[in-house]
Amino acid sequence: MDTSAIESSLRRDIAACSSLDDLEAVRVRYLGRKGVLTGLLRAVGSASADERPRLGGEANRLKQLCESLLDARRPDLGGGDANHLYHPPLDGTLPASTGVVGRRHVISQTFRRIADILEGMGYRLAHGPEVELEYYNFQALNFPDEHPSRDLQDTFYVSDSILLRTHTSPIQVRFMEENKPPLKIYAPGRVYRNEAIDASHQAEFHQVEGLFIDTAVTMADLRGDLLLFLRELFGLTIQVRFKPHFFPFTEPSVDVDMSCFACNGGGCAICGQTGWIEILGAGMVHPNVLRGVGYDPDQYSGFAFGVGVDRIAMIRHGITDIRMFLANDLRFLEQFQEPRS
Ligand code: DAH
Repeated sequence: MDTSAIESSLRRDIAACSSLDDLEAVRVRYLGRKGVLTGLLRAVGSASADERPRLGGEANRLKQLCESLLDARRPDLGGGDANHLYHPPLDGTLPASTGVVGRRHVISQTFRRIADILEGMGYRLAHGPEVELEYYNFQALNFPDEHPSRDLQDTFYVSDSILLRTHTSPIQVRFMEENKPPLKIYAPGRVYRNEAIDASHQAEFHQVEGLFIDTAVTMADLRGDLLLFLRELFGLTIQVRFKPHFFPFTEPSVDVDMSCFACNGGGCAICGQTGWIEILGAGMVHPNVLRGVGYDPDQYSGFAFGVGVDRIAMIRHGITDIRMFLANDLRFLEQFQEPRS
């Protein structure tokens, strides 16, 4: 088949067009259902095996040529490129649109910051279940049977012996049961308490547990690690002080205060004019807890601490209502941008 004759008639026909209608008629003549080139393409299938590659290549070349010649004539016959309707010409002077970028939840950001610091101090990640046995949440942590926190009023029970964990401390026990000292772990997670909800209490909140067990661990080690941890989190001027407290699973137990990062201990609105902010609970792991997991308390000692993550996030960002964390209000959540690391 003489394709060069087809090409010259195609060029001639397109050049002769004087309107968009003419152009459309040519398009139909060549590319329509019964068009010349459509027929040619169809004929490729029935050509001999020798002929087929050359004919196929030629037919496709002519089809593309036809399309580009038609496109090239359109503008001077008054027809726009249809693409312009959907893609207006680029205006380089307009401000760039950045789109909507998601981000991590402020609680997740705080978890990550805490994990980052603790990992750097040699703590390794441990996990435990949110639906927990009463045994791990209370018994194994040396809570007496009649301890008030076991009450239905404070704890969500799933059944007699299963509950929603009220703290991350049970992970200590689970980890010690499975591992021998020395060990140094941190355990982040969500915890549940049957609280009356207000600006500083919510029934779901978040903790990070720390645990270090070795021979001859002392409270000085605890103090050193907490000081380093809080200085990484809040700045190098932070001091800590211990106040005697009671937790069933530690002896001695302490409430840990840090000097106010905002006024450096001088007294301001953030620290209620006291210069100190109560930040976490800690202590030396009780011998009964060690014994319960098969460790000899005469050989091993250790410390534990529990950090309220919501509280840390509130202090770091000046948030005054804990309920905001779970309210799913984008106007609130959009304000917290994780620093790039
Ligand atoms: N589990 C405690 C709570 O939820 C916090 C805590 C206090 C954890 C002292 C500890 C600790 O590991 O040593 O109130």
